[in-house]
Amino acid sequence: MTAERGIPRQAVILVGGEGTRLRPVTSRVPKPVAPVVERPFVAYILDNLARHGVERAIFSTGFLADAIEAVIGDGSGYGLEVSYAVEAEPLGTAGAIANCDGLLDDGPFYVFNGDVLSDVDLSALAATHAAKGGMGTIFLTPVEDPRRYGLVELREDGAVASFLEKPGEWEGTALINAGVYVLEPEVLEMIPRGRLFSIERGVFPKLAAAGSLYGYVDHGYWRDIGTPDSYLQAHFDILERQVDTSVGDVLGEQYLYVAPTAEVTPGARIVPPCYVADGARVGAGARIGPLAVLGAGAVVGEGATVVEAVIQAGVIIGAHAQVEGSILVQGSSVGAGTQLSGAVLGEGCVVGAGNRLAGGICVYPDTELPDNSIQFYEQLRGREGI
Ligand code: GDD
Ligand code: MG
Repeated sequence: MTAERGIPRQAVILVGGEGTRLRPVTSRVPKPVAPVVERPFVAYILDNLARHGVERAIFSTGFLADAIEAVIGDGSGYGLEVSYAVEAEPLGTAGAIANCDGLLDDGPFYVFNGDVLSDVDLSALAATHAAKGGMGTIFLTPVEDPRRYGLVELREDGAVASFLEKPGEWEGTALINAGVYVLEPEVLEMIPRGRLFSIERGVFPKLAAAGSLYGYVDHGYWRDIGTPDSYLQAHFDILERQVDTSVGDVLGEQYLYVAPTAEVTPGARIVPPCYVADGARVGAGARIGPLAVLGAGAVVGEGATVVEAVIQAGVIIGAHAQVEGSILVQGSSVGAGTQLSGAVLGEGCVVGAGNRLAGGICVYPDTELPDNSIQFYEQLRGREGI
């Protein structure tokens, strides 16, 4: 199929990175399919692509490729045809795109970094690309601290004047590469095959120097979910409907979803925004929310509180435990009366009763903490009751 210039019907999704900064959330599950409000993260990307007329997505995988394919399959559950280009060794962001060459049709294509949550208007990005006539057009978003992103300076006509990946020094708000592009197939010819090559360092600066790279600035919602804080915040943003998603549609005007198969004991409180998945159980006197996700089959004991937290599938929270600002990965458990504040528990962690964990602590999978073994107090910025 030949697409008209500027109207992509196909996309490459880069999902081969190791996601190390998101451990222990990603110790056992690849970042692109880590659950975000009970859906594999890339489902949000696929929704957006499908909404803008994309029919085929090619996943460029490497690290834990099989685990990604096992979740996404042929894409039929997501309204797109999905295929896979698997790397034996990481090829970098450009090498990974070039590795999809044989699976791409003629015409332009979208590229998505696999950890970007955004409801960006892809059709507007593609229209800008078609109007400007460059080899590539990058979605740009302003951030307060651009140092860990690709810093982009624009000329008045929208052409990229310079592209600097991860600038060491920079003060103040700037436009960054949001990790979503439209590229012409000719860009593939600039990428050496079979070796590590970065689009941010090896391709974009060259295209910019040639005057053939453009920016599309969008001030809408954008987030890279690559760290535990950002992953947690992405859940809050979806629950608060800051970003347009199908989950937001389900939450509706009440900002609340309680699955029909969930069991909420009378006297328990579910405070929106809140999402309670299939088969979750909430004991008497417990409080869930605001800003909480309770995964499928999770159990919250009587009198426990879960506030601003992500509780994945099958997690067990003991009676009178208090969980706040924390991520509990599937299969972990917390004993009675334990308090978690700003903690991340990896898969299968068992934290016994009467513990107190705080301050951004990350507990790696399968760790077992006996009852009453840790009392970590943090200066809790004036919060009471913790
Ligand atoms: N297939 C494959 N092979 N994918 C890769 C590889 C690789 O060797 N390396 C990275 N990726 C994928 C990652 O899985 C991720 O989805 C995406 O490429 C970007 O990699 P990150 O490791 O998340 O990069 P980053 O967040 O530090 O920076 C990138 O994203 C920023 C926006 O979030 C850059 O593109 C920056 O310029 C940009 O500002
Ligand atoms: Mg990233």
